Amino acid sequence: MLTKEKNELLTRVGPGTEMGEYLRRYWTPIGGASEFDDKDMKPIRLFGEDLVLYKDMSGTFGLVDRQCPHRRADLSYGFVEKTGIRCNYHGWLMDESGQVIEQPFEDTANPKNPLREKCKIKAYPVKELGGLLWTYMGPLPAPELPVHEPFARKNNFVHVALSDIPCNWFQCQENSIDPVHFEWMHDNWSIRQKGDLGPYATKHLKVAFDEVEHGFVYRRVREGQPDGSTLWTVGRMFLWPLGFYLGGHYEWRVPVDDENTLSVTWFSSQVPAEQEPYIQKRIPTWHSPIKQPNGRWITSHVINQDIVAWVGQGIISDRTKETLGASDRGISMIRNRFFEELEAVKQGKDPKGTIRDPETAKFVDLPNANRDIYRSGLTRAEFKKNPQLMNGLKRFPFLAGLPVEIREEFNRAMGVDENGEFLADKAAKVPAE
Ligand code: FES
Ligand SMILES: [Fe+2]
Repeated sequence: MLTKEKNELLTRVGPGTEMGEYLRRYWTPIGGASEFDDKDMKPIRLFGEDLVLYKDMSGTFGLVDRQCPHRRADLSYGFVEKTGIRCNYHGWLMDESGQVIEQPFEDTANPKNPLREKCKIKAYPVKELGGLLWTYMGPLPAPELPVHEPFARKNNFVHVALSDIPCNWFQCQENSIDPVHFEWMHDNWSIRQKGDLGPYATKHLKVAFDEVEHGFVYRRVREGQPDGSTLWTVGRMFLWPLGFYLGGHYEWRVPVDDENTLSVTWFSSQVPAEQEPYIQKRIPTWHSPIKQPNGRWITSHVINQDIVAWVGQGIISDRTKETLGASDRGISMIRNRFFEELEAVKQGKDPKGTIRDPETAKFVDLPNANRDIYRSGLTRAEFKKNPQLMNGLKRFPFLAGLPVEIREEFNRAMGVDENGEFLADKAAKVPAE
């Protein structure tokens, strides 16, 4: 349970709030670079700020104030130039640093135009990594954008999915340190959704939580789990401060404002060795729906099920009314760590896990319980021995609405048919004439 004041402290993210200012000190993924293959700008709201994300005609990304500095027109209706974004009202042009670089009539009326140099709008840096666009909205100098091991993987098929979640970010992110929900929300609820009454999934027998450099890990033992399972020896990772990392995919809960969250997910699949070398030309980005036509939430896929939990807690979960138990030890740990961090930043310390050394940032390894299956060189025969890998070939389990063209591209990369069967096996079955 938390007091109302502490709940406010954790959940409020707008400009000037303690948590909002804290979270701005990290590089945050805000979309997919491939979104800009067929458009050059989109309005975006982040941490309660209305902004425009654009790609100019030179290929430079910018993230600037939504409102023009002249008379406040909406820049998301402007247009891009070789450098920068131009307002559609009177043509002022801003570059990615926010500097106004043209004021057409002012420049004509007064070629020396002293006004222009003084005009700057709010702008945040944008970087591209792993097919994602990242921004940093905190005080400068910015820390390094860390290149995690998955972003350096070879022979992987990757895609990015975005969903709009109408609730506060923190209840989404608490889900990243909640091992027991897996048994109920994913396993047992799926059994009941299929119309079966059981048997229910294996029970959790023990859970453990540890702090690590870039977050926390949770570890679990379930009935029948083999000794030495990496789910107990390594675990899964609450990636500080907004992410969840499971080895094959990431989920980030990006605050849009106090009442909305952008879910950014990144999925990677290792292709079988026989398909190597595989070089992906473009990392596709898609939007995943969360509602059914009848207005109820979609419940068929893993992250959709999580979303039902998040939005079900209310727009901002009222933590004065909750009852935490032994399964929630990790939840208490991360809340306390956030409170400590807010204090530490006030003392001038760098936030947890931020990297200032460019060399260190070039390759950052993270705890990964599935390390063995995300490496190059796994043969089809090895795939067939691993039920997790084979299930991943049959159906995309995480989010509803995977576009057909991405599924087809995935099939081509993996060398499987629409049912996830290896084409090579099918060819071998065809009797010789
Ligand atoms: S309002 Fe944007 S140029 Fe005038
Ligand atoms: Fe979940």
